[in-house]
Amino acid sequence: MTLAPVPRLAVIVVAAGSGTRLNGGAPKAFVGLDEHTILRHALRGVFAAPRAQVVVVVPSGFEGAALTDAREVAGDRAELVSVVTGGATRQSSVAAGLAALWADVDTVLVHDAARALTPPSVFERVVAALAGGADAVIPAVPVVDTIKRVDAAGAIVAAVDRSELAAAQTPQGFRREVLVEAATSADADHTDDAALVAAAGHPVITVAGDAASFKITTGPDLDRARALLSLTRSVAPPTPPMPRSPRVGIGTDVHAFGGEGTLWLAGLEWPGEPALSGHSDGDAVAHAVVDALLAAAGLGDIGEHFGTDRPEFAGAHAEAFLAHTRNLLGAAGWRIGNVSVQVQAQRPRFSARRGEAERVLSAALGGAPVSVSATTTDGLGFTGRAEGVAAFATALVVPA
Ligand code: CTP
Ligand code: MG
Repeated sequence: MTLAPVPRLAVIVVAAGSGTRLNGGAPKAFVGLDEHTILRHALRGVFAAPRAQVVVVVPSGFEGAALTDAREVAGDRAELVSVVTGGATRQSSVAAGLAALWADVDTVLVHDAARALTPPSVFERVVAALAGGADAVIPAVPVVDTIKRVDAAGAIVAAVDRSELAAAQTPQGFRREVLVEAATSADADHTDDAALVAAAGHPVITVAGDAASFKITTGPDLDRARALLSLTRSVAPPTPPMPRSPRVGIGTDVHAFGGEGTLWLAGLEWPGEPALSGHSDGDAVAHAVVDALLAAAGLGDIGEHFGTDRPEFAGAHAEAFLAHTRNLLGAAGWRIGNVSVQVQAQRPRFSARRGEAERVLSAALGGAPVSVSATTTDGLGFTGRAEGVAAFATALVVPA
């Protein structure tokens, strides 16, 4: 087997904005366009373009969801993908992406995830201009509206000759050292990378952009993107999209007794009962529920989102796990239908606290119904010998 060469090109996809103007109930890049998010559509264009390292910059807490999505879209390029956490401004998010570039990369494109429908041809034009020797190149489209300069009160101050104007789009491409140097020396915040590089004194050239590469900023932009997608589908569906139906998932977990402190199980503290061991509180019931929910939504598993590399979940209780899971599902466009979980344990005795456990787990999941049942195993197996507990969960999720 021959190994593919390490790419010299990288694409930083900035998706860490909150989407204040869109106000879509989740960070903008994680709002659904159809069964897929804005980010996932943007990544389709990126992976259809020339082979490159791809760094996706996302808000804190969305790393796992983004990585799952990006790897799926990447197909055989999955090893080229990484996800990093962004900053408070677009410029600081770009800086976070730059810090994750591989040593061999000499050319960088920065692309707004919000431009979800950018065709691969735009990437190709930008890459070609860089290969032709440009240090900095951006796609641009002519301005079609007649433009006026207005004062703070909205009165027209002057007409602006629109033949001198162009609307800047992304991906914006740079020689790596030009962008890194401009980013390092920046003393002001710029809304795009071309402005940053121009402020550092470098010439920036343009290539033709594309009307489809508009930035989803407000509600009407989102409607337009959705309409364009359904239009392309109704004209020539390449493969019919999977109907987005309710989905079920399964999750199981086992923890051994022998932890520190008191027992935490099914979101409840059980004074006087021996504790379970584990990276967190060992709450096998909560963990089985998390796995069932992630599986139902196709978002991977608990290790991916709450692994031992996430110190904030060390010692955390059910509530933190379930609330974060609910956020992940919400961001991917899923609502929780219901959850059913059964615990197999010799102790504690659940009968008196079953309703309480259901209420606590349900509250952590935003009110979705949770049924808790418990059983013993007639003294058989590790649960029967009271060495540990096992939990089995199923969950139903429905499109939000
Ligand atoms: N972006 C980012 N990090 C930020 C701010 C923005 O990665 N701190 C990204 C956005 O995710 C988006 C692109 O930069 O893909 C362009 O920004 P914009 O359209 O302004 O997105 P938001 O900042 O999310 O939206 P708003 O300004 O309405 O809050
Ligand atoms: Mg913004």
